[in-house]
Amino acid sequence: MASLKHVTLRQLYVFDAVARHLSFTRAAQELHLTQPAVSMQIKQLEEQVGTPLLEQMGKRNYLTEAGVELRQYVRAIAGLIDEAGMVLDEMQGVQRGRLTISVASTANYFAPRLLAAFSQRYPGVTYSLDVTNRETLLHQLADNAKDLVIMGQPPEDMDLAAEPFMENPLVVIAPPGHPLVDRKRLRLKNLQSEAFIVREEGSGTRNAMERFFAERGMTLSTSLEMSSNEAIKQAVEAGLGLGLVSMHTLELELEAGRLAVLDVEKLPIMRHWYLVHRKGKRLSAVAQAFKGFVLDEALAVL
Ligand code: PGA
Repeated sequence: MASLKHVTLRQLYVFDAVARHLSFTRAAQELHLTQPAVSMQIKQLEEQVGTPLLEQMGKRNYLTEAGVELRQYVRAIAGLIDEAGMVLDEMQGVQRGRLTISVASTANYFAPRLLAAFSQRYPGVTYSLDVTNRETLLHQLADNAKDLVIMGQPPEDMDLAAEPFMENPLVVIAPPGHPLVDRKRLRLKNLQSEAFIVREEGSGTRNAMERFFAERGMTLSTSLEMSSNEAIKQAVEAGLGLGLVSMHTLELELEAGRLAVLDVEKLPIMRHWYLVHRKGKRLSAVAQAFKGFVLDEALAVL
């Protein structure tokens, strides 16, 4: 059996040119080689294949049967190599490629809509979307584990590039029948006697809430701790206490009248959503395109 293990791509490309022109001289011109160099490559290829690929009759060259057969494979190989080059080019150009992003639990209420709008523009892109809390996001940023992160304001001491793109109002929610629901301009101290259901330690919403009340010399009484916005909304609806959540989580419940937002002075607590990556990180073409898309168009899409 012919062993082609040591055949080089260069030999195959030379053979392809000779086979197309059926002339060593013209193949040499096309490849910017000397005619003896082309002859040498073909000779070496024939030695490895173990049989002649071309034969000369009169002044003309012909492909032997083996030459015809090999040529088909060479065309296929050259086609695959072209295709690989195209796929890689397209990746650079955002047509294909993969985007790995991580978002704060609360941002997951709008992140899929952002991805959907982005993938309409770039249908070939595939995604990995991780949904987790602020603390885990900070670890992921430190480990450079994701292309991009969407989160609340990141800490200043981490050397991050962070750009705000949308407001994130935090509000107090109650079940519709709660006595505070119809009151206007509640004072913060009206909340002091209420039991609150709060997010887990490490949540950005929870941090913001604690900071806000601590700055005003208040501590809220927390009756229950839950690790998801959905769980908090369910618990508030069931009458277990009040909650403090982002407006982004409430669309459906407010529409259906299952929860109410209290009218409280100094609220909402206004946070912002940031698009974040490590400073100096080399963003892929897809990540760059997504970053541009979020910063320029998120408000219009959401
Ligand atoms: P969280 O983050 O989902 O971890 O609360 C939201 C935020 O940082 O505002």
